[in-house]
Amino acid sequence: MSETFRDRDIISITDFSRAEILDLCAAGRRMEELEKSGRRNSLRDALKHRTLSYMFYEPSTRTRTSFNTGMRELGGRYDGFSGTEGTSVMKNETVRDTVTMMCANHNDVLVMRHPLDGSLQWAADVANIPVINGGDGRNEHPTQALLDVLTIYSLREGRLDGLRMGFGGDLSHGRTVRSLSLALLHFDNITVHWAAEDFLGMPPDLVDLLTKRGVKVVRDDTVRDVMRQVGFYYVTMPQLERMPGVKQRDFLAMMKQYRIDLEKIEGFDVRVLHPLPVNSEIAEIDYRVYFTPAQAFFSQAEHGIFLRKALLHEMLGHEGYHRYDGRLPNELGTGNNRLPREKRGTSQSGMFIDKIHDGTVIDHLHPGSLRAVSDSLDLENRGYSCTTATITEKPNPFIKTNLRALAERDLKRIALLSPEPTINIVLNGRIAEKFVYLLCANANCITRTINEDVPPRFYSDEGRIRCRYCRRPYVVAHRKVTPQELRAYVAELPTVIETVGYPD
Ligand code: CP
Repeated sequence: MSETFRDRDIISITDFSRAEILDLCAAGRRMEELEKSGRRNSLRDALKHRTLSYMFYEPSTRTRTSFNTGMRELGGRYDGFSGTEGTSVMKNETVRDTVTMMCANHNDVLVMRHPLDGSLQWAADVANIPVINGGDGRNEHPTQALLDVLTIYSLREGRLDGLRMGFGGDLSHGRTVRSLSLALLHFDNITVHWAAEDFLGMPPDLVDLLTKRGVKVVRDDTVRDVMRQVGFYYVTMPQLERMPGVKQRDFLAMMKQYRIDLEKIEGFDVRVLHPLPVNSEIAEIDYRVYFTPAQAFFSQAEHGIFLRKALLHEMLGHEGYHRYDGRLPNELGTGNNRLPREKRGTSQSGMFIDKIHDGTVIDHLHPGSLRAVSDSLDLENRGYSCTTATITEKPNPFIKTNLRALAERDLKRIALLSPEPTINIVLNGRIAEKFVYLLCANANCITRTINEDVPPRFYSDEGRIRCRYCRRPYVVAHRKVTPQELRAYVAELPTVIETVGYPD
């Protein structure tokens, strides 16, 4: 066992190197060999006294139970919740507080699934024990990608280079295709063929990334065109819950040409993979395929046990544990999303009619957003002044208040309604601080959920701003931010996602 995975958070497949993926595949193969040679329990004391906590805010069969099985066969224990019914999440408890409680419960590792993108990075920031991403929104499912790779590695006798992979089903709304594609980036001479409805197709940003990194991506007209050219065909279930307004019955007709049935696989030496579950109503894989040699998805699911058992063994197979002491690091309370702007002298601009002595001017609001922003702040009912104004020759309205320190929740409320507001904090009649408040533009990012209180944080990925949590790129659109101001802000950002430090 190496130290590579000791106590490490498993958040994104992009955090793995080629060597690490291959090491985990080799470790997974060892678990497979133990199982197949009747020595399943030979590691039964490896994680004795270790406990896994599962926190599944969304349904799961495979991910949750395979981690539990891995833990059980390594002599450890598991506990947690599957669905939020019966937990205090129903009483509006935040992810931060729920994760903290699981740490306080003397667990050694958390496995979590949550509908918001970036929620797992946040859980990892909060927890003082390692966290494993069991799926965050439409973002990532790294252990699914690892088990998919392990399945292919096992079926191809350790060879991953030169793979010809087909994708079909819903390639747009799921997280498994994204994570698996990102894992394949580490291997040479990879070709991806896909066929799907336009709105279910490979996301353009993913195709761009794959192409730039040397993967050949080809869109074919039909499933049979794909089948003809690949060794593995990876199907995914339409994620209806992520397509508001689209009805299941609409899919039934549409899926006809993409459903994997006997006619589509006939004559091809192809293995059909699926992360599962199959939607029995849509039946993206016809049941008759289940009984053919092409069916590889149940073996794939068992590889989830081998992979996760191997991963837990690598992560936790050592002495010692993290002692929880009830404290949270300060950095969990502060973001790095305030882009400083030059104050242009020391006095307030003349546009701030009825100058204020102490307070805040919220400027560069989007035309038409003024009423919604002032309603959401509800300043007067909170006992503060609120002057709203639009100056005829200026495109952007503003709000002036004697409330000096807008709370983070206030700032988020403003930015959700009018992205990139300029905040001027006025002290003794002068602008003491001026910044543009940035908020991730991904509508499903956890930083945008006000009650979760996740401080927006960004990092610089080779000069490109990305959200620390969902990792989506962010482009500053504010017309007044100068190139110098932007450069200075980016220069201050971390260049990697650094681990939040907890004292041991
Ligand atoms: N593949 C997968 O994640 O399955 P579950 O949703 O059942 O965990």
